Amino acid sequence: MHKKLIITIDGPAGSGKTTIAKLISNKLKIAYLDTGAMYRGVAFALNKMGWSGNKEKIKSFLQDIRFDLVYKEGGSLLRMNGNVLGDEIRTEEVGLMASNIAKLQIVRKYLTKVQRRIARDVSLVAEGRDMGSVVFPNADFKFFLDASPEIRAKRRVEQLRELGISVNYQDILEELQKRDIQDSTRAISPLRPAEDAIKIDTSNLTLSQVLDKIMWYVKGHS
Ligand code: DC
Repeated sequence: MHKKLIITIDGPAGSGKTTIAKLISNKLKIAYLDTGAMYRGVAFALNKMGWSGNKEKIKSFLQDIRFDLVYKEGGSLLRMNGNVLGDEIRTEEVGLMASNIAKLQIVRKYLTKVQRRIARDVSLVAEGRDMGSVVFPNADFKFFLDASPEIRAKRRVEQLRELGISVNYQDILEELQKRDIQDSTRAISPLRPAEDAIKIDTSNLTLSQVLDKIMWYVKGHS
């Protein structure tokens, strides 16, 4: 593939976007950008330094962080200040913290700029909440994945258990619904499909069915 290609995958937690974005990245041999991990990394670091909501502090904190994406065939490594973001950011607690700081204009503005800079010279598949609607409005292909809250919660429980994090289904379902409301009702860049996004309900589809659907569009129209 020679022409630079940007594919966006948006959707709520547990819609399957992370797994699908990684599969597309492997199949097309293009980089994979997990923008949720950026919000999680910022939230995790702010929490660690005991941030209390002070806007000036967040400004100087953002000035000091650097993100970079290292792409090698077979995997993309997202680093914050030179460190790969690992499993410590994957808990539901950090997810909720990320959703809280994702409401702030200063954070969104900063991360949007970083995401566009990362995509400037490479082809990539970017996943998040506002990839197709705000960050990459001219993306070549935009997808929006969704599934019922119960199915998404079940998937999250399985993912977290695979990481060795023991969780309760009912807690996860409630946290996920809380995060859905917060992400889709915030004033700036709310979770919402871009007008030209292809919407896929993954509730009753296997991963390979979702992947086939997406690849059908990408192969057929590129
Ligand atoms: O995809 P995720 O669950 O790792 O994302 C964590 C939170 O980060 C999510 O609840 C909202 C926020 N987020 C966002 O606001 N915009 C993005 N592009 C990606 C994530």
